Parts: sequence; C-alpha cells; structure tokens
Amino acid sequence: MTTTTTRVYNFSPGPAILPLPVLEEAQRDLVSLPGVGMSVLEISHRGKVFEGMLAECDANIRKLANIPANYKILFLQGGASTQFSMVPMNLLGPGRWADYIVNGAWGEKAIKEAKKIGAVNTAHTTGPDFKRTSKQADLKLTPGAAYVHMTSNETIQGVEYTSFFDTGDVPLVVDTSSDMFSGPIDVSKLGLVYAGAQKNIGPAGVALVIIRDDLVTKGPASLPSMMNYATLAKEPSLYNTPPCFGIYVVGLVMKWLVNLGGLEAIKKINDRKAGKLYAEIDRTGFYRGHAEKDSRSIMNVTFRLPSEALEETFAKQAKAAGLDGLKGHRSVGGMRASIYNAFPEDGVDALVSFMREFEKKNG
Ligand SMILES: Cc1ncc(COP(=O)(O)O)c(C=O)c1O
Repeated sequence: MTTTTTRVYNFSPGPAILPLPVLEEAQRDLVSLPGVGMSVLEISHRGKVFEGMLAECDANIRKLANIPANYKILFLQGGASTQFSMVPMNLLGPGRWADYIVNGAWGEKAIKEAKKIGAVNTAHTTGPDFKRTSKQADLKLTPGAAYVHMTSNETIQGVEYTSFFDTGDVPLVVDTSSDMFSGPIDVSKLGLVYAGAQKNIGPAGVALVIIRDDLVTKGPASLPSMMNYATLAKEPSLYNTPPCFGIYVVGLVMKWLVNLGGLEAIKKINDRKAGKLYAEIDRTGFYRGHAEKDSRSIMNVTFRLPSEALEETFAKQAKAAGLDGLKGHRSVGGMRASIYNAFPEDGVDALVSFMREFEKKNG
C-alpha cells in the first residue's frame, strides 16, 4: 500500500502516531463501511452501527483495563483541557477545597483552571524545573479535601509516575493524557481518570473520562448541561452528537491493543523501547536526560545535548533522516522523543543509531 512506503518515524508528542493497521482499516471504512454502504463519517450517532461501535469500544476498554462495573466510560469533547475545568466544577462543591500535586506544565495548567472555580491547595510541586515526580512523604494533603489531582505523565518534561498516591477516602483524580493504557492501570483506586485521546488512544477530538458512579452526580444543578457529568453519563456519550469518528478510531486502537496481548504486553514493549533510548542517553555523557532517573517517562524521553546549536543541528539532521518531531518543548529545550504505544521499536533503534553517529561526528 502506498501509504506505508512514505511514512517517516513520527516522534511527535501529539497528535501522535497511530498503529498502521488502524489507519488502514479507517482508510477502508472512510468510503464505505462493509455491509453498511456509508462512510464511517456519515453514519448517525443514534443508529445501530454507531451504537455497536460505542458498545464494543466500552467493552474493550473495560476488558483491557479491568474497569469495575461502578465506573462510567465517557467520550467527551473539549480535550483534556476542558477536564481541567469540569473536574472542579463538578467535584469541588460549596465550602470545599481540592489538593493538587504539580510536576510539570500540565499540572500547572490544571491547577490554574481549578483556582478559577474554587479553593485549591498545592499539596506539592517539583517546580520550577520539574525534573522529578513527588513522593508520598512530600505531600501536604489537607484532610477533608473534595479530591486530590495529579498528572501521571508530564508530557513536556518527560516525568512519569509508576504508581498512584494513596489518598485514603479522598477521591484521586488523574490526568493520564500522555500515558493512558501504556501499561496496566488500577482504576479501582481512582475516583476519576481522564485523557485527551491524541497521544496513546486515538485521534484529537475525543477526551476519555472514566468516573466512579458516586462522583457522577456531585455537580450542582446550575451547571451547564454539557459541563455536568450527570448529563453526559445518563446515556453515556450520547447526550449530544459525540465525536463519532474519533470514537470509532479509539475503538480500532483498543481492538489493536487487545489483539497485541493487552496492557501487560504493551508495557513490556514500552519498557524495552524506553530502556534502549535511556541506555544510549546514559552511555557517555554526551546526551543528558532532563528527568531524574527514578522519574523518567517511558512515553516522552527528554534529553539535552552539549549546546543549543548542536540541538538545532540534531533536530534538523534527524528530520532529514526520517526521524520527525524530536524538537523538545521550548520551556525545556533540547530533544523529546515521544514513543507512545503505536511507535514502532525499529523507529527507536533508528534513533539510537542516529544518536551514536551524531555523537561520533560532534562529540
Ligand atoms: C498531560 C496532558 N494533559 C493535558 C493536555 C491537554 O490536552 P488537550 O490538548 O486534549 O486539551 C495535554 C496535551 O498535550 C497533556 O499532555
């Protein structure tokens, strides 16, 4: 197929690479869904075909991540950024407050939005350089908080948690936008988990929200319907026209994950891919990882070179060699290799070879 011959290695942080079999199936269904005779873009969200897609996607997510029956799975719009506001709008309640753990740019954005809605404490921050995760002993949790919020993977800094905090009876809310389904996740420990789809789950335009039943109805009746989890969960994801195409692609990605062996299997692959890159970063000292070793992300690998001029050259030459999207975020500088689930291991091998060659020439 011609599409496969022209693809580069896409290290973009998001929208990001999708599994090739998913793209090929979507390409086929774009003109006509087998047995339906309409494009997947043309079918009604109230029809049997889409309802089937939605139900299958829900079932596969439940199977993959072992989601308990008392959680709703919602496919919403407005990206993860809208969840920065919806979470406090629904969960804060009058006279209550929330605790935020801030480990990077996205945690900062989440707390900034929450402060517009109500009372919020910083339970811990690792800023301003954001090189590590917080530890349980670092946290200053305030008893009686409505919820605790954390970001499981800071996409820009490349700092990731390997487990969640124990917050006792206080619901833990986690932004998992850039590492959702990169490995097993125990949702039963969480009150609410959300993710913009465009990194590990599917295309931009869908936000996945998994919410425990008792939190669904916490929002005040005065909330706009589209901002209220109760409205959106009543007939899950079908209150208004949902992002149908995005949900369809998420469904294909979930099927791809199931066929691959599930979240344990993808975690092994992800650990191996990230391990190869970090081993190269640590090999001589020419490259320097941004994150501290125990906080390194297996999704977004951030590293610096000896000078900004070399970083510029590295990005340019890598792109010319078919390694695209490696320039780091301006706030961190350097390089960032985003190696989400769909990123092929041979692309990581290609980057490692390129890094070795680059060091030989410039080290
Ligand atoms: C960890 C994290 N949270 C939130 C967002 C914002 O997501 P969206 O663009 O879907 O609003 C991003 C986007 O990159 C992210 O990486």
